[in-house]
Amino acid sequence: MKIEVNLNESYTILHPRPVVLICVKDKDGKINVMSCSWITPVSDEPPLIAISLWTKGYTHKVIDETKEFTVNIPSSKLKKQVWLAGTKSGNKIDKTKILDLKFTPSKTVSVPSIEDCIGTLECKVKERILLNEQILYIAEVQKAYAEENLFKNRMWNDEASILLHTGGKIFSIPKTV
Ligand SMILES: Cc1cc2nc3c(=O)[nH]c(=O)nc-3n(C[C@H](O)[C@H](O)[C@H](O)COP(=O)(O)O)c2cc1C
Repeated sequence: MKIEVNLNESYTILHPRPVVLICVKDKDGKINVMSCSWITPVSDEPPLIAISLWTKGYTHKVIDETKEFTVNIPSSKLKKQVWLAGTKSGNKIDKTKILDLKFTPSKTVSVPSIEDCIGTLECKVKERILLNEQILYIAEVQKAYAEENLFKNRMWNDEASILLHTGGKIFSIPKTV
């Protein structure tokens, strides 16, 4: 028997899903990192992805200003940082001071990538769609990198320990079946 799920919580049955760290840098050089699990590929030629960001957060303000961000793939080793980046806001604090992450310059965007992550996409925004309290950004991937020992034949292996957000404070990792 299935239980009925509240409509405004129906997205929860689409979890667990990968959580990424979105990195932005404003015009004054302030770097910010936020956690995002509402992310998906939407096209491969050209390579487009979509992310959905809450209008009350800080990250979208910087993306509106610069039209750039990096998507950084954390392994389960970064669970603590993902929780912090997803519960503190750049509106109030400089998260780089509490996250203990290393940043490295990107090739095609002025936003850095996160060295501690196992994969990165450098992205430039193509479209912005306001959807009530969320903004959907469609962005074109300019460059993509993945840790060579963990990503083979176009796939992450189990050792990559990709972090999935199950719900609330609960995270999981994928297992090949
Ligand atoms: C695991 C996890 C996933 C999240 N996914 C999203 C998301 O997809 N979109 C979003 O707007 N906020 C998401 N959040 C919440 C934001 O990360 C949170 O509001 C954060 O404080 C925003 O930071 P900022 O204000 O510096 O941009 C998530 C939080 C967690 C812990």
